[in-house]
Amino acid sequence: MSEKIRIAVLASGGGTNLQALIDAEHSGKIKNGEIVLVICNRKSAYAAERAKSAGIRAEIVTRKACGGQEGFEKRMIELLEEERADLIVLAGFLNILSNDFVRRYDHRIVNIHPSLIPAFCGEGFYGLVPHEAALERGVKVTGATVHFVNEVADGGEIIAQKAVEVLPGDTPEVLQRRVMEQAEWILLPAAVSQLCDEMSAER
Ligand code: GRF
Repeated sequence: MSEKIRIAVLASGGGTNLQALIDAEHSGKIKNGEIVLVICNRKSAYAAERAKSAGIRAEIVTRKACGGQEGFEKRMIELLEEERADLIVLAGFLNILSNDFVRRYDHRIVNIHPSLIPAFCGEGFYGLVPHEAALERGVKVTGATVHFVNEVADGGEIIAQKAVEVLPGDTPEVLQRRVMEQAEWILLPAAVSQLCDEMSAER
């Protein structure tokens, strides 16, 4: 049995997508992967607590402490190399990574976005904004997308998508929660599991 694919998760917030990945790994749904590192760019990120509770190395790395984006990315690379990360998952990671960083990990960084790309994505579409835009446009279906990360914000190759109904009376908060529960928390573990199987088979 070859070594499992080593997964690093980058998060900035509550970490519910990280938790979905942790739960999926523990329940055997991610057979060929293991989360070995969580990096949070905010001291307040509850995602770090979730990692620690699961016995996963959690590191807080902030741009401020590293003197800017270049130092921030340098420190992240040090950690990713220390833990020999094969796959990097952005799970609510609110930082625009440089082209150099993204090219360094070509087709090894994936992101979960809370809309059906190409709708409601790109610069500034994070948090509640994609859901506010979906309600504003009056779409009847939205959802989540897992995609590779390239130099274009939310512009990388699409890996998987899952649709969710928009219901009458939805507020952005209610819609966000439904998209997380019915799409993100199912789609991301499934996509990561598939990627780990593929990467493992290529070894
Ligand atoms: C999720 O809505 C995700 O789609 C977006 O940021 C949010 C992260 O939530 N990328 P959490 O930190 O995983 O709870």
